[in-house]
Amino acid sequence: MSWVEKARLSAAAQAVRELRNSTIVGLGSGTTVLKALDLAAERIKKEHLNISWVPTSYQMEIATKRLGLKTTTIPENSELDLALDGADQVQWRSLDLVKGGGAALLREKIVDSTTKKLVIIIDERKLTKTLGGIQPIPVEITPFAYDATLAQIRKTSEKAGLREAAGGKVGPVITDNGNLIVDAYYRNLRRPDIINEKLKKIPGVIETGLFLEMCDTAYVGRKDGKVDILRRS
Ligand code: A5P
Repeated sequence: MSWVEKARLSAAAQAVRELRNSTIVGLGSGTTVLKALDLAAERIKKEHLNISWVPTSYQMEIATKRLGLKTTTIPENSELDLALDGADQVQWRSLDLVKGGGAALLREKIVDSTTKKLVIIIDERKLTKTLGGIQPIPVEITPFAYDATLAQIRKTSEKAGLREAAGGKVGPVITDNGNLIVDAYYRNLRRPDIINEKLKKIPGVIETGLFLEMCDTAYVGRKDGKVDILRRS
């Protein structure tokens, strides 16, 4: 196992200690959360915890079924107790996030914004002073007139393009919601809130991968085996 995998596993092991009995928990997507879910399933079994999960992707729906875990949807007129999620980038101090590397950002944003506490699990490489740079900001857009939407996004960024499927499918990535993903690059994202606003004003943009002022706690697995627990300041 690489140090990155070990670091994520250690961070996930500590983060699942946040789980409490009789709660509804949002479940982000990606490889790190998948590890956390395996560990959570062990805790649930051992301690007979009553936890219902709200999955944010087919990936996680399938995983909860495999593990025999209970699933539900966001309750009407109330919040989730907790959400566990991964991220592609976490800004030091503000704990602002870039998400969507796995194209699950829309459901993740809905779930993560409807929770009392958002807990993020990452390895230390993802913790950065500023967001953006070599990390693109994923943007979910409607397939209709996608090239017009893409042209508008390009005006706000250094470069932007439709995400291509890496394997198992030809052509662009199609999200779980039947939409497309644009990866937009920003060299110097000092005010992610301004870019977020600009992007959200473009007709055709459904949601962005900028998750601002949402994360409460980040569990950061380090190369030396330790886990830092950061709280939003
Ligand atoms: C899914 O769309 C993303 O937001 C993931 O949470 C993010 O890409 C982190 O994924 P990994 O844990 O696989 O790196």
